Amino acid sequence: MTILVTGGAGFIGSNFVLDWLADPAAEPVVNLDALTYAGNRANLASLEGDARHHFVHGDIGDRARVDQLLATHRPRAIVHFAAESHVDRSIHGPGAFMKTNVEGTFTLLEAARAFWGTLEGDEKAAFRFHHVSTDEVYGSLKPSDPPFAETNPYEPNSPYSASKAASDHLVRAWHHTYGLPVLTTNCSNNYGPYHFPEKLIPLMIVNALAGKPLPVYGDGQQIRDWLYVKDHCSGIRAVLAGGRLGETYNIGGWNEKANLDIVQTVCALLDELRPDPAGPYSRLITYVTDRPGHDRRYAIDARKIERELGWRPAETFETGIRKTVQWYLDHPDWVADVQSGAYKDWVGQHYGAR
Ligand code: NAD
Ligand code: DAU
Repeated sequence: MTILVTGGAGFIGSNFVLDWLADPAAEPVVNLDALTYAGNRANLASLEGDARHHFVHGDIGDRARVDQLLATHRPRAIVHFAAESHVDRSIHGPGAFMKTNVEGTFTLLEAARAFWGTLEGDEKAAFRFHHVSTDEVYGSLKPSDPPFAETNPYEPNSPYSASKAASDHLVRAWHHTYGLPVLTTNCSNNYGPYHFPEKLIPLMIVNALAGKPLPVYGDGQQIRDWLYVKDHCSGIRAVLAGGRLGETYNIGGWNEKANLDIVQTVCALLDELRPDPAGPYSRLITYVTDRPGHDRRYAIDARKIERELGWRPAETFETGIRKTVQWYLDHPDWVADVQSGAYKDWVGQHYGAR
């Protein structure tokens, strides 16, 4: 038995693969990743020589390649992380988001449907297509709104969230029409090791350590619900193991925080762990032009996954953020590596004009 993971060289996918294979009894992983700017084989370096991890450099939109992988490895599940994931990049260039998140998911679903159609008996009954999605599909909450439940209407506001919403609809339809055994999880903002420093928390850590400005969009009062990435991975494992077919499960950290509070927390931890003789890191906070169409607040109601599957996050924000800041301090080579090359072009293009 094997599982096929897509996007397993990215932030969440690589954490998922590492956590999965930390169990000596775990099924082997075939890891299909196109190695875009966000994919990084260094995340998986500790699996070098581990025969249970089979890395494949390829695109989910390549139907022949996906068909061949499914026929060869006969996975009992597909866990689909591969996506373009950064909202700001989707505003600069939405095309890649439509290509991978919508067309790529369509191709993967069609390949999965064809493969599943060849299975019989227990193998057919055990097969799962697990789609990893986001809370951004539900749109933006007002301060007094209850957190997003699975029953909230879809109201995506960015090209990224629209592309993820489209992919969720495809997954739902492939279950409803063809009976494909699907599961969907919609998750809040992750943070933790191997997070690419285009996203808020790692960007603030690496910029602070380099003495660079800490760019806060607008008034910094936008709210996100932060989830430690390893808790997200355990939530996915719980849904994969026991989720009801065709259902969606929201996964969140019960940690609503304003962006400015997040940045100040990162600064305070760095002041403690790596004090800067020039003064507190918060001196670097710089307000910049807001993100167009910026969603004001996300928050997840994670009671369904707790009620049905007994899942709750293990980390509080305080424990998770301390581990995260320490991880970045302990991995300067990883940080230097991901900041080389095209990363500089992105930072120049995106922040240069703000
Ligand atoms: P990421 O950008 O760090 O990684 C994406 C990975 O997918 C990379 O390894 C990339 O090389 C790969 N990839 C991209 N296009 C591909 C293609 N066409 N074929 C194969 N591989 C391809 O993303 P992430 O933050 O790890 O997010 C993973 C998934 O979780 C995404 O589907 C995202 O929408 C979802 N999600 C992320 C968050 C978050 O906070 N990061 C929260 C909720 C949901
Ligand atoms: O909610 C889940 C989503 O969380 C995922 O689906 C996305 O893949 C993931 O990227 C994330 O989206 P956000 O847009 O919330 O994350 P980001 O880290 O880009 O931004 C978090 C908040 O911080 C957001 O309100 C914008 C703000 N921000 C971000 C950056 C990069 C800043 O103020 N300054 C910045 O430089």
